[in-house]
Amino acid sequence: MTTLVGYASAKGSTRGTAERIAAGPDSAGHDADLRSCAGIAEARDYEVVVRGSAIRNGQWLPAAPDMIDRLRPHLESKAVWASSVSSVGATSIILSPQLARDLRRATPEPRAVQELRATADVRDHRFFAGAIAPGDWPGVGRLVVQLMSGRYNDARDWPHIDRWTASLRAEASRGERR
Ligand SMILES: Cc1cc2nc3c(=O)[nH]c(=O)nc-3n(C[C@H](O)[C@H](O)[C@H](O)COP(=O)(O)O)c2cc1C
Repeated sequence: MTTLVGYASAKGSTRGTAERIAAGPDSAGHDADLRSCAGIAEARDYEVVVRGSAIRNGQWLPAAPDMIDRLRPHLESKAVWASSVSSVGATSIILSPQLARDLRRATPEPRAVQELRATADVRDHRFFAGAIAPGDWPGVGRLVVQLMSGRYNDARDWPHIDRWTASLRAEASRGERR
């Protein structure tokens, strides 16, 4: 089974997450090609597609939806797992942990994920917390982060990412055997 792991990342934390997913907790029997979304022209040769993008102002980076538009005919029959790397993940957060529950409830799925659902067989979409460094967040954004008790940190929850990867691989393998 060959998996395409495509990512769109501005500052590198989504790329690091995609690298971890491509490497996987246990690579037995799984080949994964790790590629930046901008460099993916076709997906015909892959059984499984894993897509991840950083979140900017609530949405995926443009390279990620652009890739969906480009690959639409190839994605129709594919099993796709999607992830968004943002301030607020399903299990960890860059901002104050006190805000996590309310922010998770208030954060809608990015538009590109909804479009992807109309195109491909999206099995899951997961929010992962990413990382933020001094200078990443400009002007007013920096103030908002401070008000929300955000610290400059790397909030990626690697065990959670590994569990997600293991579950998608197990499900994809079951589909392959059918
Ligand atoms: C300009 C800017 C806008 C952002 N907008 C959001 C946002 O709307 N929602 C959110 O949860 N995180 C937001 N973030 C946090 C990023 O999604 C997070 O830092 C992520 O790890 C960045 O991924 P990358 O390192 O791959 O670029 C923003 C970060 C920056 C720098």
